[in-house]
Amino acid sequence: MKVNRRQALSLLAACMATPALGASRITLRPEKVVTQVAGRRLPMLGFNGGVPGPQLRFRQGDTAQIRLDNTLDDGALVHWHGLRVPNRMDGVNVLTQDVVIPGESFDYLFDVPDAGTFWYHSHYLSYEQVSRGLFGAFIVEERNPPAVDQDMTVQLFDLLLDADGQHDDSFDPARFATEGRLGNIKTAILSRNSVQQGDRLRLRIINPSVDRIYRLSVTGLEGQIVALDGMPLEAPQALGPMMLAPGQRCDVIADVTGPVTLRDTYDGADDVLGQLTVTGTRSPSDTPIPALPPNRTARPGTPDHTTKLVLRGGAGAPAHRGTGTWALNDVSGLPRRPLIAAKRNQTVRIDIENRTGFPHVMHLHGHHFHELDASGNLGPLRDSTLLAVGETRAITAVLDNPGAWMLHCHMLSHQADGMATWISVS
Ligand code: C2O
Ligand code: CU
Repeated sequence: MKVNRRQALSLLAACMATPALGASRITLRPEKVVTQVAGRRLPMLGFNGGVPGPQLRFRQGDTAQIRLDNTLDDGALVHWHGLRVPNRMDGVNVLTQDVVIPGESFDYLFDVPDAGTFWYHSHYLSYEQVSRGLFGAFIVEERNPPAVDQDMTVQLFDLLLDADGQHDDSFDPARFATEGRLGNIKTAILSRNSVQQGDRLRLRIINPSVDRIYRLSVTGLEGQIVALDGMPLEAPQALGPMMLAPGQRCDVIADVTGPVTLRDTYDGADDVLGQLTVTGTRSPSDTPIPALPPNRTARPGTPDHTTKLVLRGGAGAPAHRGTGTWALNDVSGLPRRPLIAAKRNQTVRIDIENRTGFPHVMHLHGHHFHELDASGNLGPLRDSTLLAVGETRAITAVLDNPGAWMLHCHMLSHQADGMATWISVS
């Protein structure tokens, strides 16, 4: 699908996020907005009048007090993606709370244990509400943040317009059975659009797109990838192309060496998503790029439970139980019984097999897990793991957060069409 570059670029200026600082109570109001997109005014949904919603910023250890004030004429819920919150604050219909009906509000109250790049989004009819704009960045600063000149967010988003150039409101279920709802316009929504040569940047890259995977290639920067899904890498990686499936994040610390161009090079594409122009020069930092301090997570040992999770379904696949198109272990839709019933602090290992014709990104709520490499060594901590067609991946985690936690494909069309299960920790 080709994206018109001029359209993509005009999206850039559309939204400069305004940080809402976390010291006091914040109110998030999901509402109908008309926003300038691709040279058109499009009816979307936004938190507090914008797409994306306000950038929420806290410091590690702060207490977040956030009121959801539902001014939609539909239900609402907010999920704090990647944040290890108490179960009743997780924002998931059926498992953790009732949907907030129009005119009602709900007070979310939780401590933010981890520093890093997270995000928030609707978790009610999320394939539709996130696609219409109900998402935003949730940033938790380290107690001693690394010195940078600009700390900015990059949100990769796509939009599906119909033949008349209007937001496609059909949400055609036929798309659910394949790669999901892919937009015909894609862009990087940047929290600023110019920098100086020599600036040290921290880019907090988030993929809130409902179904689209990006391979993000950046020119004009020299630096390192320092965190994935909000969790610092023990050893930062060279800044090469970054795979970002829906829900995933990457933190980059890098110095500006020229105009910065962000391109999507996934699956043969080469599309400009956004640019940072250079407006001046400063002498570059002579200190090396630091690794970020780790967040406190329990290191998994020998698993108490080992479980297989087989992904099946999609267009043309044989039948399974349940009503949707996609299935996990042959059941489509949230099963009555959890995939795993663990006792608190037990270690689990899940061997995930993608036996479908499409990639998927499996997201666990309430915890981060380690990906395991082929020889069983602990890889990076993630909250969402991407599986290519035919791929198998083992993940392991210490389940130290009690409650009922969803495990689902973060391609939200797939989730809506049955690719979801849950884990209980008691
Ligand atoms: Cu980011 Cu269950 O979601
Ligand atoms: Cu999927």
